[in-house]
Amino acid sequence: MNLSDIVNRSEKAIPWREGEKIPWDEPAFSQRMLREHLSQEHDAASRRFEIIDQHVNWIHHALLKEQPSRLLDLGCGPGFYVSRLAKLGHSCTGVDFSPASIEYAKKQNEVQHTGCTFIQHDLRSLDFGSGYDLVMLIYGEFNTFRKPDARNILIKTHEALKPDGRLLIELNSYSCLHGFGLAASGWHASQGGLFSDHPYLLMEESFWNEEMKAATRRMFVIDAASGDVQQMADNHQAYSEDDLRILTRECGFSRVEFHANWPGLCDDSGDYLLMVCEK
Ligand SMILES: C[S@@+](CC[C@H](N)C(=O)[O-])C[C@H]1O[C@@H](n2cnc3c(N)ncnc32)[C@H](O)[C@@H]1O
Repeated sequence: MNLSDIVNRSEKAIPWREGEKIPWDEPAFSQRMLREHLSQEHDAASRRFEIIDQHVNWIHHALLKEQPSRLLDLGCGPGFYVSRLAKLGHSCTGVDFSPASIEYAKKQNEVQHTGCTFIQHDLRSLDFGSGYDLVMLIYGEFNTFRKPDARNILIKTHEALKPDGRLLIELNSYSCLHGFGLAASGWHASQGGLFSDHPYLLMEESFWNEEMKAATRRMFVIDAASGDVQQMADNHQAYSEDDLRILTRECGFSRVEFHANWPGLCDDSGDYLLMVCEK
């Protein structure tokens, strides 16, 4: 692609037509993304450790009642949650399709002897197995899947849980994604960062599709030296609580409980919604 492709782009982006999501699973990108996961300066890819510690405490004490449990973390990233939960006595498996994150998680597991299993795989095509007490999918990733893929993940999760097992999903709230879709266009220059090791310009446009209730962010990464353009997009499906009640019931879950946020933690941004589903 080149600059004239940007000039001649279509006025509106249709959700999921211009790309699925940012290339978490591309080796070089995943290596750069790992730096963002590990950074304690921001909460962009994973939250800072002090917040993760508080989430893990809530999962261990409030959700699992301190009972040693079998856990599956879908989209586990570098394994920050499962490694901590394993140290508290749980038997943990993490899945992610980012090669750098899974390599990091496996190395940490060896050094810290946490006994976790890490699998590098796309959640859409993986058989989740069975016998889990808790399956988790957190930090808004559920919203990034197309509706049929999200439904399939819920069905596979339901099958993977023990009869009294639970699913913990942290979603982006409807209002957060609506705002995300209506955000103004913008650009920034980088000397090297998430999108390239070399200097680049990143131009972003956001779109809200009222019919699909989905937000799309279209990104152009322009290499400063060559002017070459790479296009990416990410998409987020917004769900109301009613949508989620119906969807989880259709996928076999008997009961669902919503929390406006991680219980006990003060974040009044309204950006996230925590959902606990019983099999
Ligand atoms: C926002 S990060 C959150 C990571 C981790 N849950 C945390 O909170 O630290 C989302 C993760 O989902 C993973 N992911 C996204 N789509 C995926 C897919 N289709 N299959 C497997 N992993 C996926 C990404 O690679 C990334 O590590």
